[in-house]
Amino acid sequence: VKRVTTHTLQEMKERGEKIAMLTAYDYSMATILDDAGLDVLLVGDSASNVMAGHETTLPITLDQMIYHASSVVRAIKRSFVVVDLPFGSYQGNSKEALNSAIRIMKESGAHGVKLEGGAEIVDSVSRIIAAGIPVMGHLGLTPQSIYKFGTYTVRAKEEAEAEKLIQDSLLLQEAGCFSLVLEKIPAALAKIVSEKLAIPTIGIGAGGHCDGQVLVVNDMIGLTKGFHPRFLRQYINLYDGILNAAQSYIKDVKSQDFPNEKEQY
Ligand code: KIV
Ligand code: NA
Repeated sequence: VKRVTTHTLQEMKERGEKIAMLTAYDYSMATILDDAGLDVLLVGDSASNVMAGHETTLPITLDQMIYHASSVVRAIKRSFVVVDLPFGSYQGNSKEALNSAIRIMKESGAHGVKLEGGAEIVDSVSRIIAAGIPVMGHLGLTPQSIYKFGTYTVRAKEEAEAEKLIQDSLLLQEAGCFSLVLEKIPAALAKIVSEKLAIPTIGIGAGGHCDGQVLVVNDMIGLTKGFHPRFLRQYINLYDGILNAAQSYIKDVKSQDFPNEKEQY
């Protein structure tokens, strides 16, 4: 199998082939997603929510991200693996940002890192790229800043914020980012950014004009209960599937149907 690289992704944008990305946090899921043919797997700090049960992405640590990332990397044969730098591991200190990125690359074997923000963090982005580490940007709704925003609603609906987002996207491309996530912004704005930039944009709640799409895998397979934002297409309901399986198992154990003669030694 031919591995996906930053060049593969750039070529995909150039020939108009959309990039398919999902999150992954563990070996079993990453094995399936790599086998399915995902171009990029993101070890997102959304692990803080869907794996650890925190309300926000803020609590997850660099060590915990490395644990998730190394589990994913052990599973993959083809997909390009990107890992989120967690909150507190890169903001306001480019040396610390570089050290965090180096730890992720060395200790997990991942292929690149993702950082949230524009002008505020571009020094960190440049320093990491100078060390030879591919960086994916992330603009729009950046969940590590949730306490600044106050809500998870659509960003950059106003002129000023939209203009800053366009400037930030150009800054990140200039700094050498190989790709850019656009989260929860108007489709029209994502279209402008995707057309302005030479590098591929990957959208989540950012419409169909992005060069690729990403979803949190637990959401798209229906493992998370009661989360139905407009941008989320759910492809299977594993919550009910697993619930039914668990209830059948309970019933079989209680009724002494399981294990039967053939299921024992
Ligand atoms: O952590 C995450 O899952 C993400 C994607 C939603 C882009 O950053
Ligand atoms: Na993230």
